[in-house]
Amino acid sequence: MGHVRKKLVAGNWKMNGSQALLEQFKQELVVPSNVEVVICLPALYAPLGAGSKFNIGAQNISEHDKGAHTGDISSPMLVDLQIQYVLVGHSERRLDHGESNELVALKVKKALQHGLTPILCIGEPLEVREVGAVFSFIQAQLDAVTHVCTDGFFKDVIVAYEPIWAIGTGKTASPEQAQEVHAFIRAHLSQTNELAQNMQILYGGSVNAENASQLFAQTDIDGGLIGGASLKVADFNIICQAAS
Ligand code: PGA
Repeated sequence: MGHVRKKLVAGNWKMNGSQALLEQFKQELVVPSNVEVVICLPALYAPLGAGSKFNIGAQNISEHDKGAHTGDISSPMLVDLQIQYVLVGHSERRLDHGESNELVALKVKKALQHGLTPILCIGEPLEVREVGAVFSFIQAQLDAVTHVCTDGFFKDVIVAYEPIWAIGTGKTASPEQAQEVHAFIRAHLSQTNELAQNMQILYGGSVNAENASQLFAQTDIDGGLIGGASLKVADFNIICQAAS
C-alpha cells in the first residue's frame, strides 16, 4: 500500500521572498516527473506563480467565505485565482494569531467545501515531547478536525507533521522519531477511514538538502514541508530530487 502514495515536496516561504526570487524559481526549479511540488507563497505573490512548472499554494485562509474580515483572504478567492493548495494551522499561525484546534478545523472544512487541497499542519512543542505526551497531543489536533469534516478529509487533506521544536531551529527530528509519529498518525486516522492509507503525510522542521533523503525513505513519510531551505533554489532542487 505504501508505494501508491506520490511523494510531495511543499515549500513554505513564510513572510519571505520577492518577485525576483519567484522569477528565479520559475526558471531554475526542476520538478521531477514523479514528485508533486508546491510552493506556498505569501498571498500577494501567489497569483504571480501562475504558469510555473510547480504548483502554488497559499499560507492561510479565513474560515469565512467573504465579508467584513479586514486583511483576510478567502477560499473562493483562491479558487478564483486557481491556487489549489493552502496551509492550514501552521504552528506560527497557531502561536502568533491564537488559532485554536477548533478554528483550524473550520478552516480545513471551508477549504474542502471549495475543492481546495488543505495542508493541515500539526505538531507538538518541546514541553509535550519531554513529558511523553506526543501521541495524545497529536491525536487531539487531528480529532478536532476530523470531527467537523466528512469523508472529504480522507480524500483531499494532506497532513504535515511539524514538531515545533524542529521548526527553524536546525534541530531536525531523526528519521526514526519522525516515522514513529507518522505511523501513529496514519494508524489513528485509519481507525476512522481506511482511505488514510492513501493520505500524504509530510514531515516538516529543519528539512535540508543533507537530511531530506533519509527522512523521505521512511515508510510513512510521503515528502516534506520545507521552510528555510525552500528559499534557495539550489537546495530546494536537491530536496525535490531526494523525493524522486
Ligand atoms: P523550517 O520550517 O524548514 O525552516 O524548519 C518548516 C515550516 O515551518 O514549515
